[in-house]
Amino acid sequence: MPLPRRTVGRLIAGAALVSALPRLPAAVASPLTPTPRQTAGPFYPDQFPADIDNDLVAIAGQSATAAGAELRLTGRVLDTAGRAIRQSIVEIWQCDANGRYHHSTDRPGGRDGGFQGFGRTTVDEDGAYSFRTIRPVAYGGRTPHIHVLVRPPAAEPLVTQMYVAGEPRNETDGILNRIRDPAQRASVIVPLMADPTAGADTFSGTFDIVLEG
Ligand SMILES: [Fe+2]
Repeated sequence: MPLPRRTVGRLIAGAALVSALPRLPAAVASPLTPTPRQTAGPFYPDQFPADIDNDLVAIAGQSATAAGAELRLTGRVLDTAGRAIRQSIVEIWQCDANGRYHHSTDRPGGRDGGFQGFGRTTVDEDGAYSFRTIRPVAYGGRTPHIHVLVRPPAAEPLVTQMYVAGEPRNETDGILNRIRDPAQRASVIVPLMADPTAGADTFSGTFDIVLEG
């Protein structure tokens, strides 16, 4: 049944009013989903590499670069109101293209000596960070992931893991699927975009990290 003409008029007027309202900043509109905590796993470095900068593809003083597809990973460290948490330190670590962590307890041999394995950076005034690393690969029973540790200046550190959208093993990964809340689960699964302008086999992705309290 068609709506009465007067009702239609009200709906149109209401829509016009809503669209005319100033856009509320995200900080007011709704709190951001806190990034869920995940296990650090056994491979946080027990010996830090000599080079621990935010470029894991190139190691200072070495000509060989990392095997694997390149990933330009960027994001911001925010509170649930969307404000930058300045001076936060962000660390990442992940296995190399051969599925090996640069850790004394991982299986010997087969390591990619051109991959830094671990990196650290400090966010800028906008809470933004960036890493050049490799697109994570699956190893053992795990879906591809990058371990992330955030150290805010005045609160507890957050340890989590970042995943790649569309990876079939995401559905069965035991650690990813410990996250029951759908919004929190979605918050750690990042779409990666091919970025041919940056080079063949290069991807980019954005992973914002939201801390509570
Ligand atoms: Fe891992």
